Amino acid sequence: MMFHGCDLAALAEKYGTPLYLVSEDEIRERCGEIKRDFTEKYENTRAAYASKAFQTLEMIRIIDSEGLSLDVVSGGEIYAGIKAGFDPGKMVFHGNSKTKSEIAEALDAGVGTIVVDNLTELEIMNRMACDRGMKQEILFRVTPGVDSHTHKFISTGQLDSKFGFSIQETADTAVPAALAMDGIDLKGMHYHVGSQLLENTSHLMALDKILSLLSDLKARYGWTAREINCGGGFGVHYAGDPERIRISDFVDPIMRKIDDAYKDCVDTRPLVTIEPGRWIIAEAGITVYEVCSVKTNSAGKVYVGVDGGFPDNPRTELYNAEYEVEAVEKYYAPHDVKTTVAGKCCESGDIVAYDVMLPTLEPGDHLAVLATGAYNYSMSSNYNRIGRPPVVMIKCGKDRLTVKRENYSDMLRNEI
Ligand SMILES: Cc1ncc(COP(=O)(O)O)c(C=O)c1O
Repeated sequence: MMFHGCDLAALAEKYGTPLYLVSEDEIRERCGEIKRDFTEKYENTRAAYASKAFQTLEMIRIIDSEGLSLDVVSGGEIYAGIKAGFDPGKMVFHGNSKTKSEIAEALDAGVGTIVVDNLTELEIMNRMACDRGMKQEILFRVTPGVDSHTHKFISTGQLDSKFGFSIQETADTAVPAALAMDGIDLKGMHYHVGSQLLENTSHLMALDKILSLLSDLKARYGWTAREINCGGGFGVHYAGDPERIRISDFVDPIMRKIDDAYKDCVDTRPLVTIEPGRWIIAEAGITVYEVCSVKTNSAGKVYVGVDGGFPDNPRTELYNAEYEVEAVEKYYAPHDVKTTVAGKCCESGDIVAYDVMLPTLEPGDHLAVLATGAYNYSMSSNYNRIGRPPVVMIKCGKDRLTVKRENYSDMLRNEI
C-alpha cells in the first residue's frame, strides 16, 4: 500500500510503529484551495488555521509559508507559534477560561486578535492592557443559540454551551462595557457552532443571528463591526464517502449571506474570517500500526490487537468516531473477515475500529488507519505509559521526521 508516493511497509520498517504519517502535499493543496476559493475569490477575507487540530513546529511553518493566520487556544500554542517563527500579530487567541498569565503572554507577545469569551476576561484584559499602555483588538465570542448536527462534545453554538456570550448579553452588557474601556478595541464578533459539520445549515442560521445582532448594535450604539469571524467546523468524510467536501461548499453560501446583508448598507462589509482546522489536516494524515495479536473470542468475534490505540487516537472512544482501516501488505487480498481492531490499553473502550472488513491478518502485518490527521496527535497522551508516535511528513514522495518518537525516559523527564 502506498501513501502519497511512499511505500507504507518500508516506512513502518524505517520509523517503527505506531507511526503518524502526514502528507505535506495534501496540506498545501488544501491551503491552495482555501486561497483560490476564499481569500483570493472574496475581498477582505482571511483564513486562520485552527492549530488545535494538529500543531507541530513544522505544521506551523507550513501554514506560515501558505500565508494563513493561526488560531491558538493556549499559552502553549502561542509559545509554539512564536518558536516556529510565526508572527503573533497574525494569531487569533481563543479560550473560554484563559488564565491571567496566558492573557499577559498574549498581550506581551503582541497577539493580533483576542477572542473574549466572558465579562471577567474582558475586565482582566482591559486592566492588563491599560497597565501596559496598550489597546488590544478583540472580538466577542457569541453563542448564537443554534444546535449543530454533530456529536454533543463538539457542538458549541447551543444556548447552554460553556462558550461565549449570549446574543442578549453581548448587546446589553458586553458591547457597551467594551466601548467604554481604554484598553480594549472591539473589532467585531466571532461564532463557532461546532466541529465536523457536513453541511451548512447551522452556520447559516448562526450567521443570520450575528448579522441581526450587528445591525442592532449599530442602531443602539452607533458601533460598526470591522470583522466577522465565522469559526471553523468544516467537516470531512472519515469512512464511506470518498468524495471530498470542497471548501466552496461551505464558504460560498456564507459569503452570499454576508454580501447580501451589506449590499444596500452604507458601511463597508467587515473582514470575514474562517478558522478551518480539521478540513485542512484530517485527510492529510494516517496512522500505521503493527498487528500484535489475532484471536477469535468465545462469541466468534475476531479481534486484532495493534501496538497503539487510545493514547494516539482517543477519538473513537470520545466521539464514537469511525475510521477506514486498510491492510498494508494485504491491500489486494480478499477482505472477508469481519474484524474489530483493538488498541492495547487496559480499557474495553480502547477500540480503533469496530467490525471492519479486513483480510485474514497475522502478527507482524501492518494496518493503516485513514484520515487521522486531525485531533489525534494533538489529543494524544501517555496513558499506560505509552510514548507518543513520531510524526513523519511526506513531500513529493520523500519522507522526513518532524517529531521524534517519545521513549521511556522522555515520559519520565518531569518526574522527580
Ligand atoms: C473557535 C474555534 N475555531 C475553530 C475550530 C476548528 O474546528 P474544526 O477543526 O472543526 O475546523 C474550533 C474547534 O474546536 C474552535 O473551537
